[in-house]
Amino acid sequence: MKAYIETYGCQMNVNDTEVIFAILEKAGYGRTEKMEEADLILANTCSIRDNAEQRIWGRIEVFQQQRKARPGVLVGIVGCMAERLKDKLLDTRKVDLVVGPDAYRSLPRLLAAITPDQPQMDVLLSRDETYADITPVRTDKNGLSAFISIMRGCNNVCSYCVVPYTRGAERSRDAHSIVREACDVYQKGYKEVTLLGQNVDSYLWKSETETVNFAGLLARVAAIAPDLRVRFATSHPKDISDEVIETMAAHENICKHIHLPVQSGSTRLLEKMRRKYSREWYLERVAKIRSLIPDCGLTTDVIAGFCSETLEDHQDTLSLMEEVGFDWAFMFAYSDRPGTLANRTMADDVPAAEKNRRLNEIIELQNRKSLERYRAQIGKQVQVLVEGPSKRNPAQLCGRASNNMMCVFPAGKLKVGDYATVTVVDCTSATLICE
Ligand code: SAH
Ligand code: SF4
Ligand code: F3S
Repeated sequence: MKAYIETYGCQMNVNDTEVIFAILEKAGYGRTEKMEEADLILANTCSIRDNAEQRIWGRIEVFQQQRKARPGVLVGIVGCMAERLKDKLLDTRKVDLVVGPDAYRSLPRLLAAITPDQPQMDVLLSRDETYADITPVRTDKNGLSAFISIMRGCNNVCSYCVVPYTRGAERSRDAHSIVREACDVYQKGYKEVTLLGQNVDSYLWKSETETVNFAGLLARVAAIAPDLRVRFATSHPKDISDEVIETMAAHENICKHIHLPVQSGSTRLLEKMRRKYSREWYLERVAKIRSLIPDCGLTTDVIAGFCSETLEDHQDTLSLMEEVGFDWAFMFAYSDRPGTLANRTMADDVPAAEKNRRLNEIIELQNRKSLERYRAQIGKQVQVLVEGPSKRNPAQLCGRASNNMMCVFPAGKLKVGDYATVTVVDCTSATLICE
C-alpha cells in the first residue's frame, strides 16, 4: 500500500509530514509522489489565513475525483485545518479521516477502523506529545538539509493568530533526542539541520539533572561537527536573548541568519496584536544582533491592514522596514481568523482594497530594500553549501550563503554537498551571482 501526502503551510508541517510517513510505515504504507497510484491520499493542512484553507477545499474536490474513480482509495485531512474544523470536514462526506497535529500516532488504528460509512477522527491536543522517538522519513530532494522539530505548539496569544488553537500549548522536546537526531542525519550525509519551533527562543527542556535553553541547545547541536550547518526558525523578538545571539557569533557553523517577524512597526498596533514588544524594543534587538554579528542575514514577516490600522500605523511599518533593511520578508494582508482574540473583540475594519494597497506599498519597499541588501554583497566572498543545479541555468550550481541568500555559480569540479568559497560579482533582488 502507498500513501501520498500534500503538505501546506510552514516548515513545521513539512517535518510533520515526515513524521506521518514514519508512522504510516508501521501500518504498512510506503511513500509515493504520485496521487494516481496512492491507496491513501492526505493533505497536511494550514489554517493561518483564509486563502490557505480555500486552497484545501479545492484540493478536496480533486481528491474526491480519485476516490470516485478508484474505489477503496482513502482521503484524509490532517494538520491545522483538521484541528480547526474537526467534524465539519466529515460533514462533506468527501473525507474518510480527520487527524489533528498531536494525534498522528493514532493513524494506524484509525485507518484500520475506516469503513465506507464510518469515517474516523482524532483531534485531541496533547500537553506532552513531541514525537521525540519517531525517526522522520526524510522527504527533502537531495539528502542535504533536514528539518528537526524541537518544540510544538505555542503559548503566545498573538491576537490575529490561530496557531495556539490548532497546535495547542507549547512543549519542548527532549534535548538528547534532538541531538541524537541531528547526529543521525549527519552520519547519513546531511550537511545542514534546521531546528524548528513557533518560538524557538522559548525552548526550555528540563530533566532531573539538567536544564537546557535554546542557546544551550544550539551550542550542543553546533558541537556535533564543524561541517554541519545549523539553522533555526522562528525567533520571537520578545524572547531572543543576548545569549542566543552570542552563541550564534561563537560558532562558525551556526548560520548567520535570523528570521525575526516584526508584524508591524507601530507600537500601538503591536500592543493590539499582543506581540509584547514595542517598535523600540524590536529596533534594539536588531541593533544588538548587528553589533555582535555585523553581516547577519535578517528576514521578517509583516501584516498589512490589521484591525484599526491607520495610515500613520502603516507609515510606521514602512519606516521601520526602511530603517532595518531586511534581506527579505513574507508579507501578508490581514486575514480575520474565527475564534482568535482579534476576531472576537476587534473590528476587521480596514477595507480589503485598502489592505491590498498598503500591502503593495510594503512589497514595493521591500523589493527595493532586498536589491540594496543583495547589492551590498557584491565584491564579498561567501561560503556556500552546494545544493544542486541552478533552476534558471542548469549549467550552473546553486547554494545558500550562511546569511541564507541564494547564490548561483559555475559548477567547476563541485558536487552537491560540497562547501565552496565564491565571490559575489552581481545580483538580482533574490539571488547572488558568483564566481
Ligand atoms: N510563530 C511565528 C509565525 C507563525 S505564522 C511568529 O510568531 O512570528 C507565520 C506568519 O503568518 C506570521 O508571522 C504572520 O506574519 C502571518 N500571520 C499569522 N496570522 C495571520 C493572519 N490572521 N492574517 C495574516 N497573516 C497572518
Ligand atoms: Fe502565532 Fe504569535 Fe504563536 Fe507566532 S508567536 S505562532 S504569531 S501566536
Ligand atoms: Fe499553518 Fe499550522 Fe504552520 S496554521 S503556518 S501549518 S502551524
